[in-house]
Amino acid sequence: MTASTDPQTLGARADAILERMTLAQKLGQMMQPERQAASPDDVKAYHLGSILSGGGSCPGDNRPADWIAMNDAYWAASMSDEDGRTPIPLLYGVDAIHGHANVLGATVFPHNIGLGATNDPDLLERIAQATAREILATGVEWTFAPTLAVARDLRWGRTYESYSEDPARVASYAARFVRGLQGDLGRDGVIACAKHWVGDGGTEQGFDQGNTVVDEDELTRTHIAPYLPALAEGVLTVMASFNSWNGDKCHGHRYLLTDVLKGRLGFSGFVISDWDGVDYLDPDYATAIGKAVNAGVDMLMVSVEWRACLAHLTRLVADGTIPMSRIDDAVRRILVVKHRYGLFERPRPADRHWSQHDCLGAAEHRAVAREAVRKSLVLLKHEGGLLPLTPSDRILVAGRNADNRGHQCGGFTVAWQGTTGNDFIHGGTSIWEGIRDVAPGATLSVDGSAADASAHDVALVVIGEKPYAEGMGDLRGVETIGAGSAFGGKNLRLPPYGDSLELATLHPEELATIRAIRAKGIPVVTVLVSGRPLVVNDELAESAAFVAAWLPGSEGGGVADVLFGGDGFQGTLPFAWPATADGATAEARDREALYPRGHGLTTGRTR
Ligand code: BGC
Repeated sequence: MTASTDPQTLGARADAILERMTLAQKLGQMMQPERQAASPDDVKAYHLGSILSGGGSCPGDNRPADWIAMNDAYWAASMSDEDGRTPIPLLYGVDAIHGHANVLGATVFPHNIGLGATNDPDLLERIAQATAREILATGVEWTFAPTLAVARDLRWGRTYESYSEDPARVASYAARFVRGLQGDLGRDGVIACAKHWVGDGGTEQGFDQGNTVVDEDELTRTHIAPYLPALAEGVLTVMASFNSWNGDKCHGHRYLLTDVLKGRLGFSGFVISDWDGVDYLDPDYATAIGKAVNAGVDMLMVSVEWRACLAHLTRLVADGTIPMSRIDDAVRRILVVKHRYGLFERPRPADRHWSQHDCLGAAEHRAVAREAVRKSLVLLKHEGGLLPLTPSDRILVAGRNADNRGHQCGGFTVAWQGTTGNDFIHGGTSIWEGIRDVAPGATLSVDGSAADASAHDVALVVIGEKPYAEGMGDLRGVETIGAGSAFGGKNLRLPPYGDSLELATLHPEELATIRAIRAKGIPVVTVLVSGRPLVVNDELAESAAFVAAWLPGSEGGGVADVLFGGDGFQGTLPFAWPATADGATAEARDREALYPRGHGLTTGRTR
């Protein structure tokens, strides 16, 4: 493979292809349908430039062989030179946002919020490298990661995709994660995608896809800042965001997409729209498409209606709404990225180095994930010297999230909204399984009913949230649902997770379990599995020790490593912890927090 890095060579190669392309071929390159809506024959007939898997969308039995077979078929269709066409290899994109977690048996790393707690950029690069290899094992070349959102309101359902509410911490990871994924864009690299440009974490009341109301200085300082190191590292793609900036949707924002990102910041890769994100710009689909492409969107991610989209695009070019120069610029950018990645020189997916490699879910990747779990745990409270535990302690393990790999992985794992139970997360350990491995005498009683002071010295109660993704994780009242509908277009409002930041309101049964065990005179160590800090004052008051474990992923054994003192606690809070339900916003928590950002007690050794 001889991918050139010289911009002039890349540009010349792209131009040479561009000259030979028909309009249909050019517009086809700009399309990215979802796999279930477009077959290899469609790729061939419409010259499609890319295909994606939406959250949880997978071929066959969701094994690497199924992925390779699918990607081979798409690739072969794109490489057809029938009718004198110019073969342009297709790019396949996935949401490998915490490992290649849609695939059965992949290593599932902690979600970003937990990585924020590790404060360890080296670790981030190693996670990204391992993820890249697992992606390549399935014949995929592109992941929609990293998310560089700076979440400012804990009610946002995507808070767990944000490393921190502190732009500096997000920025400290951005380049390292991109480097880990892309490497030198040779055999071991995949194409990264910084998302969502821009201001996704700043929406009012944390509404997913809502409105970020800040002046340009604040947008630049807080939300644009983490992109600078990613761009300097050469991230090849950027995804437009669903949210609006001061009422104008980012997907149609020429100033943000073209003037700032491509102009002032010199981004030379291409901009992909988010999932049907163009649709919300205008009730009239054709008008919406015109706005997005003219604003600077280069490739359109379209779930199903890609044929209609392509037909509109064709008409918009014919009637002059979209100038040909804009189409040529978009396609040139796509071709440059494909050349830069060496896609034209790569053999079919089945013949690539990492294809079907047993690195997917391999022990060395799981070891990195387990290290990340250990480093991400934040000890909020510790009284009475209960920790570390010893294997000979008589331990009761309780709580809905104790033996639930699905819950500890959270959303964007096997299914868009995640899974429940252990069946879909192949490999790894639940938190309970990790504890049992160290302390074989421990007892599991999910509802805590087996608690018995004469038989148990200590109880570990693993509580928290169930999995969710995007707007379905929002915390908002039903009466506020309509509030976002006037942001210069339509708005997608998914049903929220709940309407309170207080765990005892969302899941009162968790507190009941803790109380019932405490009432029997057994001290409780609580482990919270959640995508964000929640108000847990009652649960804290009832616990002798309290650990925030975030969404640790498949390697729940990392929790036992630290509880039993092999490693000490070393994670620190990437978000200030709310003292009351009024503490959803970063500003409110700056004024009053139960624990400030950076808090984290330590015990014993760290490594
Ligand atoms: C999300 C993106 C994701 C895309 C593709 C969208 O709903 O906002 O983050 O990359 O789906 O699955």
